[in-house]
Amino acid sequence: MTRPIPLRAMLAASPLPRFEAHLLGQAVLGVSRAWLIAHDSDPVTAAQQAQFEALQARRLAGEPMAYVLGTREFYGRDFCVGPAVLIPRPETEFLVECGLQAVQGLERPRILELGTGSGAVAITLALERPDAAVLATDCSADALAVARRNASALGASLGFLQGNWYDVELGSARFDLIVSNPPYIRAHDPHLHQGDLRFEPGLALTDGADGLQALRAVVQGAGAHLRAQGALCVEHGWDQAAAVRAMMATAGFTGVASQPDLAGIERITHGRWAA
Ligand SMILES: C[S@@+](CC[C@H](N)C(=O)[O-])C[C@H]1O[C@@H](n2cnc3c(N)ncnc32)[C@H](O)[C@@H]1O
Repeated sequence: MTRPIPLRAMLAASPLPRFEAHLLGQAVLGVSRAWLIAHDSDPVTAAQQAQFEALQARRLAGEPMAYVLGTREFYGRDFCVGPAVLIPRPETEFLVECGLQAVQGLERPRILELGTGSGAVAITLALERPDAAVLATDCSADALAVARRNASALGASLGFLQGNWYDVELGSARFDLIVSNPPYIRAHDPHLHQGDLRFEPGLALTDGADGLQALRAVVQGAGAHLRAQGALCVEHGWDQAAAVRAMMATAGFTGVASQPDLAGIERITHGRWAA
């Protein structure tokens, strides 16, 4: 039988980097980092040790920290995540910023997110603009279950629909804003078999084609669902900005421009529906 040992000893024995061992310790004990440090001579029970070791084994097998912990912070809020959804990325916060800017000054804007995954984008928009009517879609029922759980836990009010891009019951009313971070990795990109991506749902990562297929579906379908001067903001890959700008200009958008992220990479492209 495992004997109680001090918390400090359990953490020190971990082969994980110190900050990761601390995060797992915090998750197992349900405490803050400050508590963990201040109470490091407290004993941990056999059950806590076993739980720590189980999480540690998953991390050592390469599973992303966000899945092991079951949570990832996005725009200052904690979202539940699991293997059914993409782990929200920090750069996607720029998509939220782009969307918020696009509807600034508009009262009760109607917002649509396509491919919501964990719901991080749509839920954040709904919480940042409580007057907005937000609808979020995904083709994955499992992803939508996670998104609904996040909306409920964070007290966000928005609608969810399952279907293939615009092929859902959107009604006749048009939107002021459509946002999307669709799968944009090329089918045979070797990165799909490396690091965290190995554990994330393929459907969230790749369009199974040239990397622009899902972006084309989102861009080409947007005009039929946007009000005049409504905005489309999409996230895309580091080398896709020029192709997405061309796609949006051809589809009939005006003021098409791309925005760099903090690393100076153009990751978001937006435009206004001219019709
Ligand atoms: C890159 S993830 C984005 C998730 C989330 N919006 C984010 O930014 O963290 C793309 C999402 O699009 C969804 N998706 C893929 N193909 C789709 C389709 N044909 N119709 C609707 N959603 C789709 C995936 O299930 C996934 O949740």
